[in-house]
Amino acid sequence: MEIKVVAGDMTKTKADAIIVPFFEGMERPEGDIATIDKALDGAISQLISQGEIKGKLNEITIIHSLSKLPAARVVIAGLGKQQELSQDKVRGAIAETCRLLRQKGVNSIATMAQGAGIAGITPEGAAQAITEGALLGVYSFRRHITKEAEYGEIKQLLIVSSDESELPALEQGCYKGRVMAEATNLARDMVNEPANHMTPTQMAETARRLAETCGLELNVLEREQMQELGMGALLGVAQGSRQPPKFVVLHYRGGDSSEIDVALVGKGITFDSGGISIKPSAKMDKMKGDMAGGAAVMAAISAIAQLKPKINVMAIIPATENLPSENALKPGDILTAMSGKTIEIISTDAEGRLILADALGYVRKFGAKFMIDVATLTGAMRIALGDVCTGAFGNNEELIDRIIAAGAEAGELIWQMPMYDQYKEQNKSDVADIKNTGGKYGGAITAAQFLSEFAGDTPWVHLDIAGTSMTDKERNYLVKGATGVPVRTLVNLVLSLAK
Ligand code: BES
Ligand code: MN
Ligand code: ZN
Repeated sequence: MEIKVVAGDMTKTKADAIIVPFFEGMERPEGDIATIDKALDGAISQLISQGEIKGKLNEITIIHSLSKLPAARVVIAGLGKQQELSQDKVRGAIAETCRLLRQKGVNSIATMAQGAGIAGITPEGAAQAITEGALLGVYSFRRHITKEAEYGEIKQLLIVSSDESELPALEQGCYKGRVMAEATNLARDMVNEPANHMTPTQMAETARRLAETCGLELNVLEREQMQELGMGALLGVAQGSRQPPKFVVLHYRGGDSSEIDVALVGKGITFDSGGISIKPSAKMDKMKGDMAGGAAVMAAISAIAQLKPKINVMAIIPATENLPSENALKPGDILTAMSGKTIEIISTDAEGRLILADALGYVRKFGAKFMIDVATLTGAMRIALGDVCTGAFGNNEELIDRIIAAGAEAGELIWQMPMYDQYKEQNKSDVADIKNTGGKYGGAITAAQFLSEFAGDTPWVHLDIAGTSMTDKERNYLVKGATGVPVRTLVNLVLSLAK
């Protein structure tokens, strides 16, 4: 979809549909809507007085203009109460509207900077929200469907403004929104791709493509190099699979110094069968998405490279399958991580923390001011917070607060989880330094406590996205399948740290 900012009068714009926002509590058409209402011989006022148009959030009313206007349809999009408006509501409403219009065969849409100047939303913020909402909302994953789609794609969306001085800000927002949405959709594609297509090798290949197109530095470590570095935990997980593991390192250098400011680490289990501690077969197919953290950090650094903040960022993706075989890791085995710590394996299904232990060890070897890991780490996380919030754990309150704020800006909800020392008890092993599972209770927390042993004293936050990385229903700008969470949060965080 092409999205363009243009100068002009929306009521005079030719398009298959024009979208105008309407707020709850508005009793009669105002501004542009009044102009359109007049052209339509009062159709909108009539629908308002009949109670069909109430302005409730995500209420969509389509009126055919029957040649009384240059646009074929006028779409009244409810945005709820004006004082309660947020960028996220704009994002959601435009997504719902675009999906409905696509179904109606609409090719071209024009709208205005919906929400600009209301409830603290800037013109730039409005344009960004519209662009993100439209691109995220019409996302679909049809790569493996050979049958033609029932409906075509929306080709063009114009953001029309009559205020010339506003245009640069709108263009800025539109650009940022496109970068954010395309990165999110890239992460969605990677997660939706099945494990026979998205192998560790394919993840490294995707990194290579991004490095080329966005100008990132790439280094992929092979098994031998992992051995040299002593990544026993990662290699332990990888030993059961025929697919070679890949340790992907991407660098974005926008800062003046040679130091790494932010390290983003993402779990890249391209399929999690559980290994010898095999999972039940029901819903095991969902475990193709166990590399969502890795996809998110890869997509985020590609967006960062396009937005060019003055900061140095590194993205690390340890990628492997977790499968049972005659070579596979076994319960009771003891592994030595890169940091030198020994780990007793209780369940081979707690593999995410093993590969992350070595990824965090790698970051610590090279040093970084801040370290954020993203992982579909525990089913317990999904039990605790559902699919609404991502859980945040860490050793640095300031960094946690910044991530929560970055998430709020993106409309990606994050909730801080406790890290009291008492939880460490559950990870104690009789035969090694630590064990890889802490029992049934507080499973998301004991997993985070395990990681904290490998984060050391580097300011660090762990985001458990096991609940939020996929959704089984359409919701605003999310569609069934991968959500692309928390790509936009990570980008916002890095942009804020660069200031
Ligand atoms: N990848 C899973 C966690 C997961 C579960 C993600 C459901 C998304 C949806 C992880 O590797 C895992 O298997 N965790 C175990 C840990 C347990 C063995 C301590 C779990 O949550 O059951
Ligand atoms: Mn597992
Ligand atoms: Zn896993």
